[in-house]
Amino acid sequence: MEKQDISRVRVSIVTVSDRSAKGEREDISGKVLMEIVQSLGWKVIGYSVVADDREMLKKELIRLADELKSSLIFTTGGTGLAPRDFTPEATKDVIDKEVPGMSEVMRMESLKKTPHAMISRAVCGIRGTTLIINLPGSPKAARECLEAIQPALPHALELLQGAVDDCGNTV
Ligand code: MTE
Repeated sequence: MEKQDISRVRVSIVTVSDRSAKGEREDISGKVLMEIVQSLGWKVIGYSVVADDREMLKKELIRLADELKSSLIFTTGGTGLAPRDFTPEATKDVIDKEVPGMSEVMRMESLKKTPHAMISRAVCGIRGTTLIINLPGSPKAARECLEAIQPALPHALELLQGAVDDCGNTV
């Protein structure tokens, strides 16, 4: 990817929710994320709704990273403390390296809005050249967390694609 060539960012969105997967709840968070991604000029190449099931989510993340070649995967939901919240575990199962700074910033910024932010166990990490980011489930929380990390995303994606070095110089 050439430096600053944002139109080549390939994004997948995965909503993790038992109720949305059964069709009992409309997936508003997924739609909100899609709108934000498109407003940033990035391309949405994958969208899915999966149940809160660790194995199913693992398989979906691997498909979106390895087969669909997503640059970026946003998950929404399943990061809290409910018995069936497994999104961070499924993410840790598939990533090669964690990117803790991104989840730290999401929690830090979110804490300014609600003490409930500390309940989110969201994880960010890379699988190959794909950056996987867990966002919380509510549309408002997903938007707030994406906005918190958005300034670092273009550079993170350039580094992953090998287009720049750590200092931002073209390689
Ligand atoms: N982060 C932000 N920015 N805004 C919020 O309203 N809600 C929290 C938290 N993070 C919230 C937030 C709440 S109430 C929960 S339970 C956790 O995210 C986990 O949400 P999830 O289980 O839907 O992923």
